[in-house]
Amino acid sequence: MLIQKIANTLSFEHFWKQEVAPNQNVLIVPSFSKSGSKHKIWDIAIERVRCLGEGGKVLEFGTNNGGSLYYFWKNLPGSTEFHGFDCFEGIPEAWDKLPKGAIKGFGYPAELWNDFPDQKVNVEEFVTRTGEIPPVPQENIKIHKGLFCHTIPSFCVAEKLKDVQLLHFDADIYMSTRPVLDAICGQMRHHYYILFDELYSVNHEFKAWMEFIDLFHITRWRVVAISEDGVQALFEINY
Ligand SMILES: C[S@@+](CC[C@H](N)C(=O)[O-])C[C@H]1O[C@@H](n2cnc3c(N)ncnc32)[C@H](O)[C@@H]1O
Repeated sequence: MLIQKIANTLSFEHFWKQEVAPNQNVLIVPSFSKSGSKHKIWDIAIERVRCLGEGGKVLEFGTNNGGSLYYFWKNLPGSTEFHGFDCFEGIPEAWDKLPKGAIKGFGYPAELWNDFPDQKVNVEEFVTRTGEIPPVPQENIKIHKGLFCHTIPSFCVAEKLKDVQLLHFDADIYMSTRPVLDAICGQMRHHYYILFDELYSVNHEFKAWMEFIDLFHITRWRVVAISEDGVQALFEINY
């Protein structure tokens, strides 16, 4: 694991030298650890998605309490379809110092009910009693509860992937990121964006991305924006 981390850290340095440093067009945004916000890079992603046109899909892998999904929903046209994927049970295996089951949040995307405080109490009670998540108040958001490996196959059958404009990867770990890249992005030939929330987790999101582009021969991709510490990154694919 340690040796792999050293190798992947070197690979990340190489990525920075090749894809970020020489490219004047890459937008470098303040790190979350300094600024306390991810809105800058989220806003760049939102602007790029707007340029792709109306009526597309935004997919989020790792929705937790719904904070980021709510932000994208609030700032993108009402014609956009949003799909939030999460088991709402926390990470399915240990991640660095965090144990399996960490980052569980409230166990449902509570922030999607922030504008409806009267309903929120009933929703909380419903979730606790049934373990199910009722339809969220935003008509164009669908929540897919379960492990990605259980929810993605039926999603891929039911939904047209060519409408996907943005994927937000926020599930932190390799085993949750790589299969989604393979199953969804592996089928997509059109122009779209990926926002990574933890790219600099070199044994996880970064490793998954590097393996994916190698295996699927993805050559037309570039960095649009990245935080100065390399943690959040927006990539453009098939531009
Ligand atoms: C960092 S949180 C997401 C934060 C959220 N995007 C926000 O802004 O509030 C990571 C989430 O990924 C979920 N997760 C990780 N791996 C998963 C998997 N394989 N299947 C389903 N959910 C997963 C966890 O349950 C957790 O809620």
